[in-house]
Amino acid sequence: MSSATQQKTQSLFKKCLDFTRADDIKAKGIYPYFRALQDSEGPVVKMENRKIIMAGSNNYLGLTAHPYVKEKAIEAIKKYGTSCSGSRYLTGTIDLHNELENKLAKFMGKEAALLFSTGFQTGQGVIQPLVRRHDTLVSDKENHASIVAGNMLSKASGTNVVRYKHCDMEDLESQLQKIREKNKHGILIVVDGVFSTFGEICPLDEVNTLAKKYSAEVLVDDAHAFGVIGKGGRGSASHFNLEDDIDLTLCTFSKTLASIGGFVVGNERVINYLKHHSSALIFSASPAPASVAAASAALDVLEQQPQLCEQLRSNANYIRTSLISLGFDVIDGETAIVPVLIRDDEKAFKLWSELFSDGIFVNVFITPATPPGKAMMRNSFMASHTQNHLDKVIESYAKAGKKLGII
Ligand SMILES: Cc1ncc(COP(=O)(O)O)c(C=O)c1O
Repeated sequence: MSSATQQKTQSLFKKCLDFTRADDIKAKGIYPYFRALQDSEGPVVKMENRKIIMAGSNNYLGLTAHPYVKEKAIEAIKKYGTSCSGSRYLTGTIDLHNELENKLAKFMGKEAALLFSTGFQTGQGVIQPLVRRHDTLVSDKENHASIVAGNMLSKASGTNVVRYKHCDMEDLESQLQKIREKNKHGILIVVDGVFSTFGEICPLDEVNTLAKKYSAEVLVDDAHAFGVIGKGGRGSASHFNLEDDIDLTLCTFSKTLASIGGFVVGNERVINYLKHHSSALIFSASPAPASVAAASAALDVLEQQPQLCEQLRSNANYIRTSLISLGFDVIDGETAIVPVLIRDDEKAFKLWSELFSDGIFVNVFITPATPPGKAMMRNSFMASHTQNHLDKVIESYAKAGKKLGII
């Protein structure tokens, strides 16, 4: 090796040794991440041997603590064991997978469904086989990281991956126009039905109109829409009365469905193609029996008690209007996510620390989860929060907000 090369040689791990941002926050005692729960009844959890009101979970309907959901998961372990130990393609399909696929397809009013082992894998697993070299992917700039990962896995690259300005329909149309001037290949427009950071509802009706105009297909990630908006919690397509128009909807089990895994629904021929071409499906073990049984039981509860979705939105609305009237900079909306803009990272960590000391857990989002200068508290609520829980959250925000000079 020449001496010039020797001088340039650097350990791969140098960046790890240089990374001290998290340690700096830990040293100040205000580090909010990787905090362990010691138990959980949904809206109230135990952390550091204290009861804490959980105001940052995606357990939207509170069903992880539902007795029927827990019982079904236990039954599944007793019958099938703890893992399927293989991919759906080979030895990893149990009858619970097929039953849940049929139930989900019926619930969503689509021909077929396909399960994946996580929501993250679902995004990758749907985009990768569908979008080939000459096709174009058109993605909202604020789509979830799993969609971005799916975009990278697809065969589309360079100018065939287009990101349009967040929720900007003029920009979407101008991108579609440019693509159609160049080629007649397939176009997949991918959007989050409800955006995961700020909780806005995607204007899916306008996306759909543009998709039809430019002969594109639409894939919606309904992770934060399923169980929250639409008829009986059926998500974005239902919210806009577009059940027959939206080609593909994907979703995770890790929020409303109180489990871990994911699914996509759509036309039977498309689902059949994904089944035989999706590497995330073929080369990964199938969702575990308990996870599938829990998601299936949570779906039963949602079908039997659609009023839970209204309760969830009403809880989030109560917090939203209360925090706005206290003077917090709240991004308005109508989903379960209530973002409070703080802008400054350290102030956000301090607010988190005050709230946590007072028995409230919320999430702090900083870059890269938010654009720079938009540090925020990402609060999210459950149908199972009681009025007392909600009032306690407001009281703590008021106290901490005044102490830190935020309100
Ligand atoms: C919009 C969106 N899509 C996909 C996912 C990934 O789901 P999972 O947690 O099941 O991997 C999430 C989870 O945060 C999400 O918010």
